[in-house]
Amino acid sequence: MSTRPNNPAEFKETVRQEWAGAAPLWKKWNHKSVVQSHAATQLVVQGAALQPGMHVLDLASGTGEPSLSLAKAVGSAGRVVATDLVPEMLEAARENARAQGLSQMEFQVADAEHLPFQAGEFDRVTCRFGLMFFPDVHKALGEIRRVLKPGGRVSFLVWGPLEENPLFSVTFSPFLKHVQLPAPPPDAPGVFRFADQGKLAAAIAATGFRNVATAKHTVPWPWKGTVEDAWQAISERAAPFKKLLAALPPEKNPEVMREVFAGLRRYQQGDTIALTATLNSATAAV
Ligand SMILES: C[S@@+](CC[C@H](N)C(=O)[O-])C[C@H]1O[C@@H](n2cnc3c(N)ncnc32)[C@H](O)[C@@H]1O
Repeated sequence: MSTRPNNPAEFKETVRQEWAGAAPLWKKWNHKSVVQSHAATQLVVQGAALQPGMHVLDLASGTGEPSLSLAKAVGSAGRVVATDLVPEMLEAARENARAQGLSQMEFQVADAEHLPFQAGEFDRVTCRFGLMFFPDVHKALGEIRRVLKPGGRVSFLVWGPLEENPLFSVTFSPFLKHVQLPAPPPDAPGVFRFADQGKLAAAIAATGFRNVATAKHTVPWPWKGTVEDAWQAISERAAPFKKLLAALPPEKNPEVMREVFAGLRRYQQGDTIALTATLNSATAAV
């Protein structure tokens, strides 16, 4: 985390490589993750207040949600452009859209800070679990505003506080007893950068959006499978675990894993790990 370059272009390249490396693992867990994050997808779709035929730009689309669900909501007369910094992620999204016959979808590699679209091209811009990773979030929000039509609207979703998200708190804490990670600067890109709703609202309002509304939601985050399976998916998809696992003294590994599994098992109900997630939504208008 402290090894990231200071130069913005180099930083972006490092980020691109990290997400490109994660893409095959995101693809591997895509199906189960779509089910687990269904409530998050619904929050983005509802926040977008879509009408059939609308044109929607989804940023940081990853392996395809929420853009596939947005495409279903605007129907075959609509248009959804799924974008991501990383071609490998977008390729997985394209395959998923093809499998579902969503011909109203387009795919374009795009950095959220430099959108390759004309002014006023879209009715809606959406982003699920992406906004907090854009290094210059004000630049990205300015670009989002530029590509929206007058009267256009945004619908964003980000993670709420760490301690209210057992997916992370239960799995992080056993590591943090043995591994010291430097605290990131308050505005550094990261999973919990907009855990505070007020900070999210202020960033959006500072870019000139109107009617900014944020809300905190606690939603089901169910994982059908064993705790071992759940841990494998979490650790393979979430970048911080690579660093935590690498920094953990090997002799501590069995103890930490026992604690992670015991923590997850507290949420086990039959064949499901019945986690919940606390998320912040934001909507605003141009
Ligand atoms: C946590 S994933 C979210 C993917 C998907 N929206 C979801 O909710 O499952 C974050 C995504 O942001 C993308 N990303 C990171 N920085 C970006 C940037 N500057 N512009 C566009 N996408 C970016 C990554 O490649 C990754 O696919």
